[in-house]
Amino acid sequence: MSVPTSQPSQPSKQSGPSKASRPLRAPGGFPVVGVVGGGQLARMMQGPAVELGIQLSILAESETAAAALVVPSSPVGHHTDLEAIRDFAASCDVVTFDHEHVPQDILQALEEDGVALHPTRAALRFAQDKLAMRERLDGLGIACPRWTRATTADEVTAFGDDVGWPIVAKTPRGGYDGKGVSVVASADELSDWLGRVGRPGPVEDGLLLEEKVDFVRELAVLIARSPSGQAAAWPVVETVQTDGICTEVLAPAPGLDPDLASVVTEAALRVAGELGVTGVLAVEMFEVRAGGGRAAYVVNELAMRPHNSGHWSMDGAVTGQFEQHLRAVLDLPLGDPRPTAPWTVMANVLGGDYEHLYPAYRHIMARDPGAKVHVYGKGVRPGRKIGHVNVSGPDLADARGRAGHAADYLRGVITE
Ligand SMILES: Nc1ncnc2c1ncn2[C@@H]1O[C@H](COP(=O)(O)OP(=O)(O)O)[C@@H](O)[C@H]1O
Ligand SMILES: [Mg+2]
Repeated sequence: MSVPTSQPSQPSKQSGPSKASRPLRAPGGFPVVGVVGGGQLARMMQGPAVELGIQLSILAESETAAAALVVPSSPVGHHTDLEAIRDFAASCDVVTFDHEHVPQDILQALEEDGVALHPTRAALRFAQDKLAMRERLDGLGIACPRWTRATTADEVTAFGDDVGWPIVAKTPRGGYDGKGVSVVASADELSDWLGRVGRPGPVEDGLLLEEKVDFVRELAVLIARSPSGQAAAWPVVETVQTDGICTEVLAPAPGLDPDLASVVTEAALRVAGELGVTGVLAVEMFEVRAGGGRAAYVVNELAMRPHNSGHWSMDGAVTGQFEQHLRAVLDLPLGDPRPTAPWTVMANVLGGDYEHLYPAYRHIMARDPGAKVHVYGKGVRPGRKIGHVNVSGPDLADARGRAGHAADYLRGVITE
């Protein structure tokens, strides 16, 4: 009689209420797209993923991250934990991102493992590090604000004296929604700010200093590019920032000079091609008046993922940015980016005093059946992006008023 050398396998013990760490595969040969980070961008990929039969898997910050609430396969792990990301990536066909914060050495290790990252490590660097981005864009001859890298107070003073005060100081890495950006009128103000905000992002390589651009308005160019090199551009939009946070997007940018629209779109396509960007690329720009009052642009920054400036496309374009991002990272043919209405306005819902959002639905839905409400499943904190409203139509002022009203009602700043 032979003695078994190992026990028959036992069903694995449930270790608490954690979610399935492996995505279940649907029949039909459909891929699994892994997304590092479980914020609202990952969450909004789930709608089109469901429609296309594509499985998402999220490496989430917590079990209640915005995307983890709607994607069954959402293992919890940190984006700086190589083993967690490795383990996560092993069950995905491609891996993409909800944010820019995965360190370069981790990205490199994943690429060495053979993981298909979109965007790649090499491309993502220019969205992670604003100093690297400025250097690269200068190299490509793309118009930027005057800028420098500064590590000492003397360098700050010299730059401000040269371009004129106040200047804009930025931590090169780790900032978002205006955190990591400050307008300062002296080197002392800059060091006060660094002391106060506790340095949002490492600054040992120096700070990025920029001239304060006297812009006419802010624009964003959103495009998608696939690994095969196919690219598609949405119409150029106007973005409105309040205290560094995007609050409103007008699509397309009203009254934009058609020549400038072509120039900025070509610039964004060129940046995507030269940097080898895969997936959605947002190029944030400032519209400025050049010599003779001519409309011109300078680039503010790059984001390589779906972007707030593209949320309008979920309801206002043939192909929305989240579907397009999935198509691009899977190297599928891209969808039609054309708008489906003359105007679409997106109004962000920023956290206010009201924690309970759902009771507002009855009022805003009754008042405006055409408003499209998107809410991210995030806890309310003042100023935090917790949702947005899109309104499309033939009249810009009307769409703007309606989107703004619904967003303000949701956040509780108006009650009728
Ligand atoms: N050089 C500049 N001149 C004038 N305004 C600027 C400049 N840089 C940034 N800003 C303002 O600050 C906002 C946030 O800056 P940005 O670099 O885009 O940071 P974040 O990464 O937080 O989005 C911009 O959208 C713009 O309104
Ligand atoms: Mg920005």
